[in-house]
Amino acid sequence: MQRMYSATLTLHSWLRWVVILLGIFAVMRAIAATRSRRWTPADDRAAMLFTIGFDLQFLVGLLLYFVLSPITTMALQHMDAAMRTATLRYWAVEHPSAMLVALVLAHVGRVVVRRAAEAKKGRMALIFFAIALLVIIGMTPWPNMPGQRPLLRF
Ligand code: HEM
Repeated sequence: MQRMYSATLTLHSWLRWVVILLGIFAVMRAIAATRSRRWTPADDRAAMLFTIGFDLQFLVGLLLYFVLSPITTMALQHMDAAMRTATLRYWAVEHPSAMLVALVLAHVGRVVVRRAAEAKKGRMALIFFAIALLVIIGMTPWPNMPGQRPLLRF
């Protein structure tokens, strides 16, 4: 179980970079689409890759949260005490719920873009994906932030 936990944590740590890079790419394509007022299949692919990477990270996060992480399983059993401890509250509530909000924003963004008029697709993509990306970056446990985790895990 311990080996599975550290392997999954390592996967989650590396997937963070994949999701952030795909998010930056999707935002850059949305900016280009806003300027040209044309939404191309390549822009749509960038958006799709961002949501696929994010979905994968979400599943790995859920596995950690409900099954493997001793921190969150303990916090879930003693939610009262966890809410009073900053680090436990971060892992049990703040990190997962903010990421869930970002995930919903990314998916809603794709639907809104699909339904928007051609000239507005780029702007809609930019708004939704940029906010989702900011939430992701803001709630990732960087070194010296509440979660205190390494930039690279081996
Ligand atoms: C709703 C989705 C998510 C859930 C439920 C979730 C849950 C978790 C949990 C339970 C941990 C491990 C706590 C521990 O036992 O040490 C963790 C760590 C972490 N999460 Fe998430 N997470 C989610 C989404 C994300 C996203 C989208 C990112 C960034 C793109 C991210 C980045 C990280 C990082 C960098 C760590 C620390 C990894 C390490 O220790 O090296 N998480 N997450």
